[in-house]
Amino acid sequence: SKGAAMVTAVAYRLNDQRRQITETLAKFRLNNDQLLEVKNRMRTEILNGLGKKTHDSATVKMWPTYVRSIPDGSENGDFLALDLGGTNFRVLLVKIRSGKRRTVEMHNKIYAIPMEVMQGTGEELFDHIVHCISDFLDYMGMKNARLPMGFTFSFPCRQNSLDEGILVTWTKGFKATDCEGEDVVGLLREGIKRREEFELDVVAVVNDTVGTMMTCAYEEPSCEVGLIAGTGSNACYMEEMRNIETVDGDEGRMCVNMEWGAFGDNGCLDDIRTEYDRIVDDFSLNPGKQRYEKMCSGMYLGEIVRNILIDLTKRGFLFRGQISEALKTRSIFETKFLSQIESDRLALLQVRSILQHLGLDSTCDDSIIVKEVCGIVSHRAAQICGAGMAAVVDKIRENRGLNQMDITVGVDGTLYKLHPHFSGVMHQTVKELAPKCNVNFLLSEDGSGKGAALITAVGCRLREQERK
Ligand code: GLC
Repeated sequence: SKGAAMVTAVAYRLNDQRRQITETLAKFRLNNDQLLEVKNRMRTEILNGLGKKTHDSATVKMWPTYVRSIPDGSENGDFLALDLGGTNFRVLLVKIRSGKRRTVEMHNKIYAIPMEVMQGTGEELFDHIVHCISDFLDYMGMKNARLPMGFTFSFPCRQNSLDEGILVTWTKGFKATDCEGEDVVGLLREGIKRREEFELDVVAVVNDTVGTMMTCAYEEPSCEVGLIAGTGSNACYMEEMRNIETVDGDEGRMCVNMEWGAFGDNGCLDDIRTEYDRIVDDFSLNPGKQRYEKMCSGMYLGEIVRNILIDLTKRGFLFRGQISEALKTRSIFETKFLSQIESDRLALLQVRSILQHLGLDSTCDDSIIVKEVCGIVSHRAAQICGAGMAAVVDKIRENRGLNQMDITVGVDGTLYKLHPHFSGVMHQTVKELAPKCNVNFLLSEDGSGKGAALITAVGCRLREQERK
C-alpha cells in the first residue's frame, strides 16, 4: 500500500541519515596503530627540538627554562606572582614558609583582560597589567614592599636565563602588537617605570606547565613532568642536560618547556586531521600554527564541534536544516558547556536546556546527535594528548636506562579538571602506549601562581649564593 511505502521511505531516509552521521564522526576515531604513530612522531619532533642542528627548523621547540631542580622545601619568603595566558589573568601574593611545618598561603585577585587589550598594542597590554598589579598592591596594602616577583607567562619564550623570556609567538587568543621578539620581562619593567608608582624585582619568567610541575614537586618529589590541558595544551619535563644541545653543559637536568602545541605544524599530523580541524585552523588567529593544540585543547574543541554541527545542519540532519545565528557564533561552546553536555548524569532534556541557553533550539533527536559529536571530539582530544604524554614518559624512562619506571605528572587546566571523561581517557591511553611506565597523575593546586613563587624563591636563593 501507499502508506507502507511511505513508512519504508522514511525508514530508509533515517537509516541513510544515521549512516552518514556515523561516517562523518568516524573520521575522529583513531585506532591503536594510529595513536602509536602519533606517539612515535612526537618522539621524533622532541629529538628535533633538542638537537643543535635540527632545532631551528623544529616545530616542537623544547625551550630550556633554566629551572634546574625541583623545590627542596627550604624555599621561604613573600612573593608576588602574575599569571597571564590561562583562563583568567591574576595577580597573587604568595607567602612560603619553610621549616618543620611548611606552609604556602596565597591571596589573589582575578582581573579581566578585554579583547581589545589582548589584541591591541603591546604597550596597552602591559599598561593594563601594571594597572592591575597596582590595584592589587593597594588592595593588599603593600605598595612599598618591593617584592620579588615571578611572572607566569604561558606562551612560547626563548630564554637565556631565568629572568628573561623572549616571546617567540603569541598563541591562544592573544595578538598584541610589538611583543613578539621582545623580552617580556623588559616590557613589564618598562610598564612599571612608565607608571612611576611602585617598584618590583622580577626574578623569573615561568611557563604554566613549569609552574604546575614545580607545585606538584613541592609535595611529591617524583613529579618531573608538567601538563596543561586547558585553554591551551602543553607539557614540560626534566630532561638530561647532555641531551639539550641548545644549552652549554652536560651536567644534571633542566626543565624544558616543550611547546608541544605546535606539533603537526610541519604537516606530520595531516593524515589524522579532518576537514573540520582544517576549518578551525583556517579561521583562527594563527592559521597553520599550533595544530596539535587545536585538536586537543579547550579553546578549540568547541569550535570543532560547532563546525561539525554546521555541516550536519547544512546536510539537513540537525536543527531542521536551519543554521541559526547562535550556531554561526564563534566560541559559543566553551569548555564548561562541553563538559556539561557530556556529563553522564545529565538527562537529554537537560542537554536540550543547555543548548537552549546557547540559543540553539533542538529536538530530542538533535540533542542526542550533539552529545555524540561532543563525545567523539573530546575522546580524540584525550587520546592524542595521551599519545603525546606517552612519548614524554618513555623518553624519560629511556634517558634513565630503566626497564620499568614510576613517575608523577603534575596536571592543571580547565579541560582536565572540568570535563567528565577527558582525564580518564587520557590516563588510559598513556597506560596502553607506554606500558613500561607507571604514571601517577597529580592534580596541581593552583600551579601557575604557587609554582611561579617557588621558582622565584629558588631564583632569589641562587642569586644570593652568587653574591657570596
Ligand atoms: C599554549 C602556550 C603554552 C602554554 C599552553 C597552556 O600552548 O603556547 O606556552 O603552556 O598554551 O596554557
